[in-house]
Amino acid sequence: KIIVLDFGSQYNQLITRRLRDFGVYSELLSHKITADEVKKIKNLKGIIFSGGPNSVYDPDAFKVDPEIFKLGIPILGICYGMQLMSYDLGGKVEKAENSEYGRADIEALDDDAVLFKGLPKKQYVWMSHGDLVTKAPDGFKVMATSKNCPISSIADDKRKFYGIQFHAEVRNSEYGLDILRRFAFDVCGANDNWTMDDFIDLQIDHIRKEVGDKKVILGLSGGVDSSVTAVLIHKAIGDQLTCIFVDHGLLRKNEADQVMNALNRDLGVNIIKVDAADRFLGKLKGVTDPEKKRKIIGKEFIEVFNEEAKKIPDADFLAQGTLYTDVIESGTDTAQTIKSHHNVGGLPKKLGFKLIEPLRKLFKDETRELGEKLGIPHELVWRQPFPGPGLGIRVIGEITPEKLEIVRESDAILRAEIKKAGLDEKIWQYFTVLPGIRSVGVMGDGRTYDYAVAIRAVTSIDGMTADFAKIPWDVLQKISVRIVNEVDHVNRILYDVTSKPPSTIEYE
Ligand code: XMP
Repeated sequence: KIIVLDFGSQYNQLITRRLRDFGVYSELLSHKITADEVKKIKNLKGIIFSGGPNSVYDPDAFKVDPEIFKLGIPILGICYGMQLMSYDLGGKVEKAENSEYGRADIEALDDDAVLFKGLPKKQYVWMSHGDLVTKAPDGFKVMATSKNCPISSIADDKRKFYGIQFHAEVRNSEYGLDILRRFAFDVCGANDNWTMDDFIDLQIDHIRKEVGDKKVILGLSGGVDSSVTAVLIHKAIGDQLTCIFVDHGLLRKNEADQVMNALNRDLGVNIIKVDAADRFLGKLKGVTDPEKKRKIIGKEFIEVFNEEAKKIPDADFLAQGTLYTDVIESGTDTAQTIKSHHNVGGLPKKLGFKLIEPLRKLFKDETRELGEKLGIPHELVWRQPFPGPGLGIRVIGEITPEKLEIVRESDAILRAEIKKAGLDEKIWQYFTVLPGIRSVGVMGDGRTYDYAVAIRAVTSIDGMTADFAKIPWDVLQKISVRIVNEVDHVNRILYDVTSKPPSTIEYE
């Protein structure tokens, strides 16, 4: 096991992720951990200090217990981590003349440097720093250099302390993963036998200990994260878990049934399904403002959930499918807030339950792998992202049952054809939208005045930016013909060719 101490870098969890990908168990822990606590961690082979936004000279800079340097455990400092280690051990850190952000070329100075062994002498790396180490502490040698950062890497092979000024954990560092591997295996001698099964065992054990014989409730939204959480917790405590599945009537075609079949019928998870479609539609009647729609859906979800939860009076715990990305985007005690998490499934803290969030350390794709391991069908686990307010924000303007039916049916056709064309795992997200415009058409011999349906399809890595997907014309043509023929009240199909920015992926 290798632990990563969190000094607030946006990349810190990526380091643990990389190590887990190598098969080395890794967790992110607070920099406030004491040497005594570190000593108690079983099977600990190494420690990584993450980067962070501070300068070591900031009055409230994140520090580390200096006793940790005396434990005889190998340490790798990355960026701020290297500066902190240098500063604490008697080296010199100074403000860089120009702060460096982006690609830099470094050169390894020593063929035998353990972190760079077998790698090309020159390589490009990702730098992002305002300070730099200008004198390595006693006992350290400089192992790599770059134009703007003469001390890019340091090593004290005797104590097994290493530092790199660049971010080896990001893909923009050419041999970054190799460098992390060399630290994990050649320096720390870690084992590479950790798998997702171990994660499941560990979490099950943890959930059982925490919950004891108490009851847990979970708000199931129908999405991947809450579904995986439900199955994992069910595996740990069986019927002590009750899920409340609020079907707001804004899910995709057959989605609610799919979720019920997979989780309840096949895996035995205890689920109370509340058919609240009429209630949601009633509240949304006449509402056209996008933000108002979102707020109503979010508020109603919480109310329905609360009403059902009250019927389970002795529940002590509330489980949630919070992922690492939700945690980091909403800000942690070290990372800065990027945006607040806007999932409908996010219930307010004041409900008075103790929270269990077993996926907090995982990334989305790890969550999917976990879901499959737990027996949730592949198609369900690999569904494209779907917003909490569902089809409610894909009907522009007022939501009516007729309009919902048009998006739901056209979306099902789009999905079926994309899958048939083998494009479903290539396009990040694809769906139809009802922009609410009507136009004149001719069908048979008659004039029509009906709705236009827009197709939105994008490629993206994380949803923050996106490009419109270039679906082949013949596939688009098939989709268009099918939607117009099979969905009532549609006589025109539009294809959205804007990227994000300036558009967003969704329309509302
Ligand atoms: P936008 O439209 O902001 O969407 O470009 C980016 C990604 O986020 C999804 N999205 C949401 N997901 N709750 C969610 O869980 C929401 O309220 C929400 N709104 C948008 C959207 O589908 C896209 O993948």
